[in-house]
Amino acid sequence: MNPTCPSEQVASIIATHQDRPGALLPILHAIQDAMGFIPPDSINEIAGALNLSRAEVHGVITFYHYFQTTPPARHQIQICCAEACQSMGSERLMQHAEAAASGSTNYAVHPVYCLGLCATSPAMMIDDQLHARVTPDKFDRLINKIGSES
Ligand code: FES
Repeated sequence: MNPTCPSEQVASIIATHQDRPGALLPILHAIQDAMGFIPPDSINEIAGALNLSRAEVHGVITFYHYFQTTPPARHQIQICCAEACQSMGSERLMQHAEAAASGSTNYAVHPVYCLGLCATSPAMMIDDQLHARVTPDKFDRLINKIGSES
């Protein structure tokens, strides 16, 4: 069976892992891998299956920054903030990108530390595409382009 409903997906993942020792983390990882986040309404089901309190499950989810409780943005933007890019204006680029993405569910902006394009900095990545020598104007053009393709 290939579960399509989110709650069926969560139930299937719990059933697969719940008898393992220390099952909570494998379950949380599997849910996030499958769905991109951990739906808050799955906490009850996880807690019940593992005989834990909701607070214990919630505590683990919030302890690890890796776990997300809201659906991921449609596009992931990574801006390099390492030295070479910083010296070429990545801080200004980051501020510009954060302002542009603010309140948007389409884009999430993350700092990263070296994308391997140091000689053509500042560098950034939109989903799996690398971009070099990114100015705020170039950023706007790239974002508008993917916005029109979506
Ligand atoms: S320092 Fe930015 S790509 Fe290497």
